[in-house]
Amino acid sequence: MFQPTLLSGKRILITGGGTGLGKAMAQRFLELGATVYICGRRQDVLQKTTAELHVAVKGAIYAIPCDVRNLEAVEGMVESIWRDRPLDVLVNNAAGNFIARTEELSAHAFESVIGIVLLGTLHTTMACGRRWLKANHKGTVLSISATYAPVGSAYVVPSAVAKAGVEALTRSLAVEWGNRGIRMNAIAPGPIPTQGAFSRVLPRPELEALALDRNPLHRFGTTEELANLAAFLVSDGSGYINGEVIRMDGGEFLQGAGEFSNLGRALTNEDWESIKPRKTKS
Ligand code: HXC
Ligand code: NAP
Repeated sequence: MFQPTLLSGKRILITGGGTGLGKAMAQRFLELGATVYICGRRQDVLQKTTAELHVAVKGAIYAIPCDVRNLEAVEGMVESIWRDRPLDVLVNNAAGNFIARTEELSAHAFESVIGIVLLGTLHTTMACGRRWLKANHKGTVLSISATYAPVGSAYVVPSAVAKAGVEALTRSLAVEWGNRGIRMNAIAPGPIPTQGAFSRVLPRPELEALALDRNPLHRFGTTEELANLAAFLVSDGSGYINGEVIRMDGGEFLQGAGEFSNLGRALTNEDWESIKPRKTKS
């Protein structure tokens, strides 16, 4: 799909790059010639991923344990990367989420998710952005949002609140920093099977079936599809895309929004025939 050198020379940090979508992006970026840094809280997971991708792709990939909720830890990680050379791309992918009835959530539960998703994204974006601005170095930030960010969603309220903030940050800084060479974009994926997400937001087979049922394509997205879109958005080929949130959900969001979208299920062929206007003789 892409020239194999699409991302040659690019240095990319992916938060939460040890698993799921982050790992898939790491693999794709390596295949396209980038140098990749991944971070997460669990060192063993990061090491396993770097070892696996070294064998699979043989690119330059480095793991740095870091909790993005901790500003000092983020500054330390970014500084250690910069000591070698500046980054060119930051991918804010780390997240926390689970389904729950909102009235039952503790303050700590809210803080935990908002801390990872919103504060984590702010910490990394500011750490990289300030360095890029100071050195007049071009940079690109890509954040992984969710389709419910602009409208909210029941049962994932801490995540919805935090992802809405991430999208606001994306659009705000796209304008404030755009004239100084920094692009800000986001991807809003629909459901893509990963252990981390599905175990927490679709923890039962019947919930997966419900999610599949309302998708016009009747399938989930794949990690490869997400990684390809991400590769395009962080590449120079997409240089005029700034401040956008690209939805990638097989049309699921629009299916939910359309007033008459469920008629396909409600009406049979016979029903459609019966409601056609009758031809009257002139
Ligand atoms: C209610 C819960 C809960 C649950 C945790 N808590 N899980 N409350 N229902 N299912 C509460 C805990 O009781 C605790 O509050 C507080 O949240 C923090 O929990 P900890 O386990 O102490 O926090 P921590 O170890 O930091 O773990 C963070 C986490 C965890 C978010 C809770 O799930 C995690 O590490 N997630 C990382 C990966 C992840 O979530 N991936 C999915 C991304 S999918 P108290 O008061 O008891 O101390 C996604 C989009 C999906 O974002 C969209 C699909 C279409
Ligand atoms: P995942 O595998 O659980 O990925 C989350 C990653 O974030 C993990 O590697 C985790 O590693 C890391 N992380 C969590 N808290 C962290 C912290 N405090 N500091 C640093 N890293 C942290 O889930 P995923 O499905 O790949 O999700 C990736 C992104 O896609 C998330 O932004 C998610 O909201 C978004 N998304 C996913 C879907 C989907 O269906 N899969 C749909 C919409 C949006 P550690 O636990 O080791 O820290």
